[in-house]
Amino acid sequence: MARIAVIPGDGIGPEVMGEAVRILGVLSEHPELDLEWEAWDLGAERFLRSGVTISDEDFHRLAEDYDAILLGALGDPRVPGNEHARDILLGLRFRLDLYVNYRPCTVRHSRHSPLRSPLGAAMDVHIFRENTEGSYAGVGGAIRQGTPDEVAIQEDVNTYKGVERIVRAAFDFARGRGGNRLTMVDKANAMPAAGGLWRRVFQEVAQEFTEIDTEVMYVDAMAMDLVRRPDHHQVVVTSNLFGDILSDLGAVLSGGLGMAASANVHPGRHALFEPVHGSAPDIAGQGAANPMAAILCVALLLEHLGWRWAGARVEAAVQAALEEDVGTPDLGGDASTGQVGLWLADHLRNDRNLWERDTHG
Ligand code: NAD
Ligand code: IPM
Ligand code: MN
Repeated sequence: MARIAVIPGDGIGPEVMGEAVRILGVLSEHPELDLEWEAWDLGAERFLRSGVTISDEDFHRLAEDYDAILLGALGDPRVPGNEHARDILLGLRFRLDLYVNYRPCTVRHSRHSPLRSPLGAAMDVHIFRENTEGSYAGVGGAIRQGTPDEVAIQEDVNTYKGVERIVRAAFDFARGRGGNRLTMVDKANAMPAAGGLWRRVFQEVAQEFTEIDTEVMYVDAMAMDLVRRPDHHQVVVTSNLFGDILSDLGAVLSGGLGMAASANVHPGRHALFEPVHGSAPDIAGQGAANPMAAILCVALLLEHLGWRWAGARVEAAVQAALEEDVGTPDLGGDASTGQVGLWLADHLRNDRNLWERDTHG
C-alpha cells in the first residue's frame, strides 16, 4: 500500500490537483496499484484563517505517514510576502532534505517548441537542481530597512556535501540512461568560491563515471545555448537558483509551464512531486489551467514508487492527447482543465496495455 499526501495549495493548484487525483482514482482500480491518498489543507486559506503556515506536527506527519507527497502550487496575492509558500514549499524541501530537484524538459510534440525545427523538437534535457542550499539557504538579513542606508545580504551557501550529492545524483542518472553528456552549470568567473567548489567536486565525481561526457558552462552561456542548441544538452546539474531559472526556460522551450513536472527527492527517504509552474493567479478559477504538468507528476510519482510501467501509461495518455490535439489554451487548444483530465482518465480506462499488464507481465 502506497500512501500519498495531496496538497492542492493555492490558485490553479486545486484545479490541476483535482485532475491528478482523478487519474490516481483510475489507476487505483488496477489490482497491482495499491494506492491511497489524503488531501491536506495547507496554503493561503489556512494561513489567513488560522495564522499558521505549517506546524511542526504537520512536517512530522508528512515525513512519517506517507510514501510520497503530491503538491499543486503555493502563492496567493492575498499574502503579499508569500510567507506561507516559503514555509510550506521551501520548508518541505529543506526539512525533508529533498536535495534532488529533478526537472525534465522534453518536447513531447514538435508543435510545442517555440524554436526552429528539427533542433527545437529534439530537446530532451534533464535538469538536476540542487534543492537545499545555495541562495535559498536563508542566510543573511537586512538592516536599516526602508532608509537610504539599507543593507540587504543574501548569502550563497555551497557545502562540499551538498554539491557532491547532487552531482552524484546527476551522474547516476546519466549512467542509467546509457552514458549521456552531463553539463555542470555555474558562474565561476564572477563567483569563484562557489564555482571553484562545484568544478572541483564535478571533476572528482567524474572520475567514477568515465563513460559519461562532461562539460562545464557558465549559466549565462547556458541560457543562450539552450535556445541555440536545444538538441545538444542532455543532463544538466546546477545550483538551486540557476536551476530555478533554467528550468522555467527549459519548460517554455519544451511545451510551456503547463507541461513541466518535477520531483523533489531524498533518495531512499522522502519524495515530493509538483508541477514546475506556480499558482498562476492570472488564470485561476477559470478552468483554463493545463493539468498535464500535474498529471505528469503522477507519472514521476508512480515511477518513484516502483511502478514505472504505470507511469509510462500515464505518459502515453498525455502523448495520445497531444497527438489528437486535446489541450488547454496554453497549448493552442480549447479544452478546459476538467475536459483534459476527463479525456486522459477515459484514455487510461481504455488502455489495454495498462489493464492487461497483470496477465501479460
Ligand atoms: P506561474 O508559474 O504561476 O505563472 C507564470 C505564467 O504561466 C502565467 O502567465 C500563468 O498563467 C502561466 N501558467 C502557469 N501554469 C500554467 C498552467 N498549468 N496552465 C496554463 N498556464 C500556466 O508563475 P508566477 O506568476 O511567477 O507566480 C505566481 C505565484 O506562484 C507566485 O506567488 C509564486 O511565488 C508562486 N510559485 C509557486 C510555485 C510552486 O508552488 N511550486 C512555483 C512557481 C511560482
Ligand atoms: C519553483 C518556484 C519556487 C522556487 C518559489 C515559489 C520559491 O519558483 O519551484 O520553481 O524558486 O524554487
Ligand atoms: Mn521556479
